[in-house]
Amino acid sequence: MSDAQERAFAELSDRYLLTVPRGAASTSVHPDARLDAAGEYGRTAPLIVEVGSGQGHAIVHAAATRPRDDFLAVEVFRAGLARTMLGAERAGAHNLRLVEANAPEVLEHFVPEASVAELWVFFPDPWHKSRHVKRRLVKPGFGALAERVLKDGGMLRLATDWEDYALQIREVLDDESGFERDFAGEWAPRFDGRVLTSFERKGAAQGRAIRDLAYRRRPRR
Ligand SMILES: C[S@@+](CC[C@H](N)C(=O)[O-])C[C@H]1O[C@@H](n2cnc3c(N)ncnc32)[C@H](O)[C@@H]1O
Repeated sequence: MSDAQERAFAELSDRYLLTVPRGAASTSVHPDARLDAAGEYGRTAPLIVEVGSGQGHAIVHAAATRPRDDFLAVEVFRAGLARTMLGAERAGAHNLRLVEANAPEVLEHFVPEASVAELWVFFPDPWHKSRHVKRRLVKPGFGALAERVLKDGGMLRLATDWEDYALQIREVLDDESGFERDFAGEWAPRFDGRVLTSFERKGAAQGRAIRDLAYRRRPRR
């Protein structure tokens, strides 16, 4: 991290970064860890979670422009978390909290069942080489975690600039009985709540198509 990021991390963590009981690894989540959203945000409001939030461009913008909703950013990259906190501070986004942890464990343990209005996964693939395919966030098993946290009717929104990953995401989520597509054609229209980030810009500049996907959580029986 740069000096400014080190300082931001030290000074702003108390306000934004949630303490997560750990398992064995430093970014793991203890199976008994639970988010107390009403306690952390000081109110009850729709909760939007972004996993792999990077530098926080999308979620800071959303938190600043949707003051009636609460936002949770999940990221393992500490410099990204520092930049997200700086962004939140600049934007006066006090409805945003951050978790430094491995996203699947956050969805499995920390976020309560049926508590999330929207779950976002934007440009989740920093390692697109084929040897890294097994490290992908959205792979078989991810759908069940997303289903667990979303409320009935809640939305799962994703975007990627890697065609093979887009196809994998669609296959994984089409197979999940708890979700239905929220788009009619091959892909969803661009989600207008998503700000343009460097990952999207780079993908487009290199001639890759940007694929959006949107799935709705079917009501539980
Ligand atoms: C390509 S970046 C995209 C960041 C941001 N969503 C954007 O569109 O600008 C992907 C991010 O996902 C994060 N990430 C990947 N796997 C993760 C995991 N298992 N848990 C938490 N974050 C993860 C990476 O650290 C990285 O910051």
